[in-house]
Amino acid sequence: MEGLLDCVLRDVLTRIGGVDRCVSEFIRVTNTLLPERAFIRVVPELLNGGRTPSGVPVRPQLLGSDPNCLADNAARVAGMGCDGVDLNFGCPAKQVNRHGGGATLLQDPEVLYRITLAVRAAVPLHQIVSAKMRLGFDHDQQAEECALALEAGGVSEIVIHARTKADGYRPPAYWPRISDIRACVKVPLIANGEIWNVQDAVRARQDSGCHDLMIGRGLVTNPGLGLALKDFDESANPSATTSSLTPLTWQEMIPHLTYFWELVQKRISHRHQCGRLKQWLNFLRKHFAEAEVAFLNVRTFNDPQLISAWLKTVKPQDQAHSLLVETDYKSGFIFQSEQEPLVEI
Ligand SMILES: Cc1cc2nc3c(=O)[nH]c(=O)nc-3n(C[C@H](O)[C@H](O)[C@H](O)COP(=O)(O)O)c2cc1C
Repeated sequence: MEGLLDCVLRDVLTRIGGVDRCVSEFIRVTNTLLPERAFIRVVPELLNGGRTPSGVPVRPQLLGSDPNCLADNAARVAGMGCDGVDLNFGCPAKQVNRHGGGATLLQDPEVLYRITLAVRAAVPLHQIVSAKMRLGFDHDQQAEECALALEAGGVSEIVIHARTKADGYRPPAYWPRISDIRACVKVPLIANGEIWNVQDAVRARQDSGCHDLMIGRGLVTNPGLGLALKDFDESANPSATTSSLTPLTWQEMIPHLTYFWELVQKRISHRHQCGRLKQWLNFLRKHFAEAEVAFLNVRTFNDPQLISAWLKTVKPQDQAHSLLVETDYKSGFIFQSEQEPLVEI
């Protein structure tokens, strides 16, 4: 996810587990054959056999509108070693759409077909070509036609973000529309959009008829969601041994946050480092009450040294203390229903 879920967060989230594969942020292809370093900059996992350090495949995603140019770039990145190449037909950004890329292509299924045909022909057959689409641009009436065009072009799977470009990121996601599309195509579909917890995942599966899900912001907000879903699947399967996973706690998150910060300091330019930590905390605080406290603690920091110093104080026990202090200060607002976990800390 451009500007949010990059190689740093992919490393952290895939270490936590429950993720079968990742798709990279989009790599924009205009009218040149990009040098290998341009792909490595976005997908440094290409230097590691196309996998995160914990071994999860990362599929580079290309965004563009010119079939031949996309095909040349797809062939190059495929040659660098990855399980496949993904094509972006969902990006709603005005600047991207103005240049003919992303969701705007959903208005012209013929171009979708030509792009996927050219890319499929350029990528060795043992590597996957997949696509990501929304339900449409201004309306969802061509969703089936778009999926059929992608299928005819030869993609092996399609992720469907169940909203149009016009819907932006406004809930709901229209998962039942994915079910309509499933009735028209044979290629496997993957449901995406507004999956924030296991209950959403169950409903998305029921409504879309897809077992496989792509989860974006939900995993950034609750990094234990993938594991929780796997655990749910196992417990629903009587022949499997039920694991005893409990939801990832904030205490368990702290080492991941510390590791994230180490990576940020290694990989991100100095002036953006604090922003990256605050950005993730801003997501985490939707799920972990304690992250709200952490966010309030660091939100005025613009010097990475201050963040490093603060993180050293956030040892599990100290965190419990600071949480209790913060609870008083916030008049119970944050932890109204969270007293039990706090006592356990
Ligand atoms: C900040 C941000 C960046 C995104 N970047 C990409 C991208 O580079 N490629 C892509 O296919 N989708 C991108 N998306 C869309 C997500 O992959 C996903 O389709 C959307 O957020 C809905 O799923 P979710 O509710 O699970 O987040 C982005 C979304 C956000 C919020």
